[in-house]
Amino acid sequence: MSVVNVLFLVICMTIDFKEQEIIMERVKALLKGEERFALVETYGCQQNVNDSQKYEGILQKMGYTLTDDREKADFIMFNTCAVRDRAEKKVLGNIGALKHLKAKKPRMVIAIAGCMSQQESVEKKIRASYPHVDMILGTRAMADFPRALEAVLVEKKRVINREENDCVLENVPTNYDGGCKAFVSIMYGCNNFCTYCIVPYVRGRERSRSMEAVIEECTLLAKRGVKEITLLGQNVNSYGKDMGMTEGFATLLGEVDKIDGIERIRFMSSHPKDISDEVLSVMANSKHICHQLHLPLQSGSDKLLKEMNRVYNREKYLSIVDKAKKLMPDLAITTDIIVGFPTETEEDFEDTLDMLKTVKYDSIFSFIYSKREGTPAAKMEFAATEEEIRARFDRLLSVQNDISYELNKKCEGEVQEVLVEGMSKEEGILTSRNYANKIVNFKGDESLVGKIVKVKITRAQTWILIGEVCG
Ligand code: 5AD
Ligand code: SF4
Repeated sequence: MSVVNVLFLVICMTIDFKEQEIIMERVKALLKGEERFALVETYGCQQNVNDSQKYEGILQKMGYTLTDDREKADFIMFNTCAVRDRAEKKVLGNIGALKHLKAKKPRMVIAIAGCMSQQESVEKKIRASYPHVDMILGTRAMADFPRALEAVLVEKKRVINREENDCVLENVPTNYDGGCKAFVSIMYGCNNFCTYCIVPYVRGRERSRSMEAVIEECTLLAKRGVKEITLLGQNVNSYGKDMGMTEGFATLLGEVDKIDGIERIRFMSSHPKDISDEVLSVMANSKHICHQLHLPLQSGSDKLLKEMNRVYNREKYLSIVDKAKKLMPDLAITTDIIVGFPTETEEDFEDTLDMLKTVKYDSIFSFIYSKREGTPAAKMEFAATEEEIRARFDRLLSVQNDISYELNKKCEGEVQEVLVEGMSKEEGILTSRNYANKIVNFKGDESLVGKIVKVKITRAQTWILIGEVCG
């Protein structure tokens, strides 16, 4: 397959996706009214889930019908994650598995997008070993997607766009799935360069959407019946700094809180070095912001925090937790922890366990460190063996399970408001989330889906709560 690099020349701050309408119409015409199916598979974080909804919206606009079935699909996109090695290997395995499908259906178009495809090493791998991939779109190439698809369909050429730019896209058609919850990205990129993390290299520098655009999107979602919005960014606490605001995120939270129909607001992720007193105070005084804070700790060791370039220490972290809990005694806190950062010793790990016991997180997202080429940590020597790291990971989970269970147990007998998400796998049982984002399952019928309901918690388990509707 010959290669054409589609150069996308606009280097600017905001691109209005409406400018792509003519090309989207042309692609639609190319499909000649025949039913064509498209599948977007998502790996990684909520930001990717949100990006995939946009790719789906664009595909629908171009005349594709969405499907979950790879066999049926005429277009398959893997929207990828580069944060850990395991996710990358899984994607490469899945791309390999598509070879025989494409051989059976040559008109099938295969694309990879997201953080993996932004990397030069991945482009080289695809060029060398995956000739059936038609399109590689980096993290900032969404605006070029209709043109790239047209080029693949018309010229039958592979298209690669890994251009780096500082653009923010507005008015992208989005496939909101019609549920009661939605993600809204408020900013893109990251400036922090934590030493283990690939994100700043693949997603570029921080850039915020305008407050008007975010509010307009949230208002539109509320009109469509969405009740819960999660504001997304790698570090939402620096929202607006690139536009010269000092308390941009606190102001934005206050504005979203005023939107009619939005009953619950969450946000993630918050970097502890940037969370302000103002944000905590807006949270505490708001009507709709859930008293739930995702505050990634990564490690409880001051030595490691320094080597990770996290720019806070235990004391500073604990002072934020203290302040937040004083303002919101019912605050639920969750975190991210990395086990096995190269220089982590047993003592460092014990500091992390100690923080778990001190803060008492409602739940944690824990990861074994994964070496990312090109990051400073990739050059560091390991202080522990793989076996030791795995054993630490198991210990971490066991300590946290006890804490989660203990906190859940305290909920027994409480009456909580939950947002009903749908039927669970168990017949006649609904699944919902409380303010802390914990799963609450209870008996009920479909008429309650999408509603906020009062439920009495009758039984606690480690990961979920069981309840019954209050009379
Ligand atoms: N290895 C393991 N976990 C990582 N994370 C980021 N980079 C790595 C890595 N190289 C984790 C961090 C971050 C979360 C989204 O992913 O905990 O907060
Ligand atoms: Fe990665 Fe750190 Fe940025 Fe989070 S704040 S995306 S961990 S570099």
